[in-house]
Amino acid sequence: MARVLVAFGSNEGQTATVAERIGDVLETAGHDVVVVHAKHPPAELDPGTYEGVIVGASIHMGSHQSYVESFVREHNEALNRLPSAFFSVSLTAAHDDPAERKPVRDLLEEFLETTGWEPDATLLVAGALKYREYGLLKRFMMRRIAGSEGGDTDTSRDYEYTDWDEIESFAEEFTTLLPDEP
Ligand SMILES: Cc1cc2nc3c(=O)[nH]c(=O)nc-3n(C[C@H](O)[C@H](O)[C@H](O)COP(=O)(O)O)c2cc1C
Repeated sequence: MARVLVAFGSNEGQTATVAERIGDVLETAGHDVVVVHAKHPPAELDPGTYEGVIVGASIHMGSHQSYVESFVREHNEALNRLPSAFFSVSLTAAHDDPAERKPVRDLLEEFLETTGWEPDATLLVAGALKYREYGLLKRFMMRRIAGSEGGDTDTSRDYEYTDWDEIESFAEEFTTLLPDEP
């Protein structure tokens, strides 16, 4: 059993749900998991005391949450020492064509470059369009963006593009990096 920290940033909740699902998979595999919101981590939190760390962030207006960037920058020594993984949630990641996903692959690489972090694994995760939860302005804007990319525009419903099997495989794969004994 290993102690694993899952830290995430999320504006509309999809990355939080992904982080929780990863936590569930790790727990089912017998690990001791703590899931924290990187915007307000517990004051006593020390990632260096864990045996593995997974960080997730979502993309809004072309960048990941700056508070996740600060979190990673602050703890990059521990993250580079421990088994670690990063996942990035966005709409662009929902494209099947790798060429169309390139903008978010570049943002992911840029995030790692700026924070000085070299995780063992990374994953681009397709997020969600939560039209029913957005305010008027955000709903209008997202409908326009989705429409211009040939995406879903029925604002009377929400859309989820996340591939949960892929999330679970990512988490299972991560367990192979963890020490058998703490
Ligand atoms: C205001 C807004 C801006 C967004 N900007 C981008 C973007 O620049 N690129 C992208 O691929 N997805 C973008 N998205 C899609 C989000 O990344 C997607 O909805 C994701 O599921 C959000 O995750 P969260 O709920 O954890 O914040 C945007 C979404 C919203 C609401």
